[in-house]
Amino acid sequence: MAEQKDEVLLKVEKVYYPPKRVLDKALISKEEFDQMYKRSIENPEEFWAEMAEKELYWFKKWDKVFEWNFPYYKWFIGGKLNITYNCLDRHVKNGKRNKVAYIYTNEDNQEIKITYGELLELVNKIANGLKSLGVQKGDRVVIYMPLVIEQLASMLACARIGAIHSVVYAGFSANALRMRIEDAKAKIVITSTWTKRRGKKIDLKSVVDEAVDGLDFVEKIVVLQREGDEFELAEKEIDFYQLIKDQSSECEPEIMDAEDPLFILYTSGSTGKPKGVLHTIGGYNLYTHVTTKYVFDIHEDDIYWCTADPGWITGHSYMVYGPLSVGTTSVIAEGAPDYPDPGRWWSIVEKYRVNIFYTAPTAIRLFMKYGEEWPAKYDLSSLRILGSVGEPINPEAWIWYYENIGRKQCSIVDTWWQTETGGHMITTVPAYPQKPGKAGKPFLGIEADVVNKDGEPVPPNNVGYLVIRKPWPSALRTCWGEPERFEKYWTEIDNLYFSGDLATKDEDGYIMILGRADDVINVSGHRIGTAEVESALVSHPAVAEAAVIGKPHDIKGESIKAFVILRKDYQPSENLVNDLKMHVRHELGSLAVPDEIEFVDKLPKTRSGKIMRRILRAKELGMPLGDISTLED
Ligand code: WT7
Repeated sequence: MAEQKDEVLLKVEKVYYPPKRVLDKALISKEEFDQMYKRSIENPEEFWAEMAEKELYWFKKWDKVFEWNFPYYKWFIGGKLNITYNCLDRHVKNGKRNKVAYIYTNEDNQEIKITYGELLELVNKIANGLKSLGVQKGDRVVIYMPLVIEQLASMLACARIGAIHSVVYAGFSANALRMRIEDAKAKIVITSTWTKRRGKKIDLKSVVDEAVDGLDFVEKIVVLQREGDEFELAEKEIDFYQLIKDQSSECEPEIMDAEDPLFILYTSGSTGKPKGVLHTIGGYNLYTHVTTKYVFDIHEDDIYWCTADPGWITGHSYMVYGPLSVGTTSVIAEGAPDYPDPGRWWSIVEKYRVNIFYTAPTAIRLFMKYGEEWPAKYDLSSLRILGSVGEPINPEAWIWYYENIGRKQCSIVDTWWQTETGGHMITTVPAYPQKPGKAGKPFLGIEADVVNKDGEPVPPNNVGYLVIRKPWPSALRTCWGEPERFEKYWTEIDNLYFSGDLATKDEDGYIMILGRADDVINVSGHRIGTAEVESALVSHPAVAEAAVIGKPHDIKGESIKAFVILRKDYQPSENLVNDLKMHVRHELGSLAVPDEIEFVDKLPKTRSGKIMRRILRAKELGMPLGDISTLED
């Protein structure tokens, strides 16, 4: 495993100390963090219980903080709460009724602001609307919507009444959406007519039509009709605003158990179909709250902007639940980062005086390509904290971000985490010294390590598997309907949480993430399983066999290359390449479309018939082939 990653082990060792203006304001200093960390590891139950008491409102206190029946664990057993009460009601009751919760903007510079008071009313109306459709505690609701306030409010409405939401990113294809609706057996799908990207309308409704066709268990499709729409609703469909118009703006929050499910979010694994990662309410609420507060150092008057989409875990934890629980004002922006021009994001930072900005390395590299003259046109002096997430940030991009966006006046937090972890696991807090390219230290309560296959720590700066030693409050509880896939996280290396990533740890305990150890590709911060793309390709009549690898890419981090063996009677051609790309787009969505397709006669396989993607990749990149003793011939 190590030989592929040697190229990444750069010797960059410069340490960046936080600027004075960050230190002066920081909620916790480096020393305070170190002390808290020590306590959180020595006595995790006491630490988390204290945090839970201080930071959240509970209808009933828990009886027991933590229980671990390997590999299953529970937090705050017997505790009762509702995450929307923590995100909305308590702020409204505590003088923040008129504080803005979200500022929405889009490519046309439209602006919509919604206060905590208004958001609570909207959420309650949607919640009552869902109830009127027969949605009950424990029912699944799939949300397939663009980044609009109604999307976030729909998630919260589910949580209000104890329904389990499963948000599907609106870039996924009909087939990908259908698989998720079927797997979760969703009673209701909430969607919208379209989204706009680069000035072009993208139809979402027709994707849903195709996805739900023939699925009898789907009882209703709630459709948010947007400006300029004119069409008739079909039998099972109901207009979003029609549904909520006459509903009461009051809806008592359902009293939920700390271990009741909050949501399912599908993510790619190394084999087969995506897994439905399940998160529960209490631990997730607490952990996303605490990380939002300390990692982003959020103060009462801060404006916070996370550029993700609620279709991903980043949107769940750091656009919805974390920021609302903390009570901050968030910017949300529908559309592309560089449309109508590459200054769009920086104009938003300037206009709303954004203090905390959270994005992905792929976006930073895109802006590097456009040149520093674009951010230079704008006043970015409000920025104090810059965040990075989704993939390793190369030191060049880190330094560019630091200099051209942060103007050397910001701290950078490079947050490593996963859909499964629910919240930030490894990062430096803003008052901590930073090393470009190294995510940093485990967060409070997290024991992270870099180990070999047997779970033994590797020496400093050696490559190994990134693992977490014990369950933390927001760790996934299971994989929906597939407990055996959940159990693998804790049994792959016995007794440790196996992240699937390769990493190193230096003498100061700073962890550097090198990328995935398994057959998962990271394209622009999005996880794509090689097996998913391969089975999409093989479902095309021309394809006999396919193997897919990730290749380094300047902007996207990785790009997808497919090797394809054609069936008899099919000849390689440019047309066929395009056809196969279209096919993958239809099966999975545009994110999963290979950049390159190469037709081959043979694929390297083990004697037991497994494709050796490692060898394809090494050949493609001109690297040593490594151990080929298991190769068939
Ligand atoms: C995988 C998880 C966490 C939200 C977005 C992605 C990679 C994530 C970092 C980072 C290096 C990172 C890992 C991880 N990753 N953040 N700061 N540095 N790599 O969530 O889709 O579940 O993907 O993204 O490979 O395993 P996800």
